[in-house]
Amino acid sequence: MAKIISPSVLSCDFANIQRDVEMINNSNADWFHVDVMDGVFVPNISFGFPVVSAIKKHAKKPLDVHLMIANPDQYIQDFKNAGADILTVHYEACTHLHRTIQAIKQAGMKAGVALNPHTPVQLLEDVIEDLDLVLIMSVNPGFGGQKFINNAVLKVEQTKNLIHKKGSHAIVEVDGGVNLETGKLLIEAGADALVAGSFVFNSSDPSATISDLKAL
Ligand code: DX5
Ligand code: ZN
Repeated sequence: MAKIISPSVLSCDFANIQRDVEMINNSNADWFHVDVMDGVFVPNISFGFPVVSAIKKHAKKPLDVHLMIANPDQYIQDFKNAGADILTVHYEACTHLHRTIQAIKQAGMKAGVALNPHTPVQLLEDVIEDLDLVLIMSVNPGFGGQKFINNAVLKVEQTKNLIHKKGSHAIVEVDGGVNLETGKLLIEAGADALVAGSFVFNSSDPSATISDLKAL
């Protein structure tokens, strides 16, 4: 399968959000990565439903919504209504993860689970067959522009092995500190999808940077 590039709109210019959404529409990107932070699960607040809906209004590609929030179960239908196509919750935020995954799928979205850098891949063993996506965090969630944690490369390999062992169809996405150098290591380790925020939006030509990632 060709790899998926999911630019993170967290690093876009929110005063020009339509322009940046159109840039992604017209680029070689596959998805929009949409980071929702609540100031409780992570030490930062990003945006909520009105912004997700505004992105959806202009987006011509799927919304890959990454929830960094406590009690995600409470908002599953709201994110569906706001336009999420893939909804990823954090393992660390879900007491009844199996139930949460089923609820996301019943609402008509693809279900993903994200793992913080300290959370072992093996903890997904009993739900991996139900998942569409595993999101390996290569930074501690909460902020764009952080340094890549190298252990994520090993975790990609471990996740691919678990997926293979269990016959799961889940894909492996990686988020945080992705650039051409770290992206190459991740693709070599078997990553299917790369998120990139600051590397794309801080470059002089974001669309060309997306193409460079896609060509890895
Ligand atoms: C971090 C977010 C990321 C963030 C990545 O908590 O989940 O999606 O936008 O930003 P970069 O690519 O700058 O590390
Ligand atoms: Zn993210």
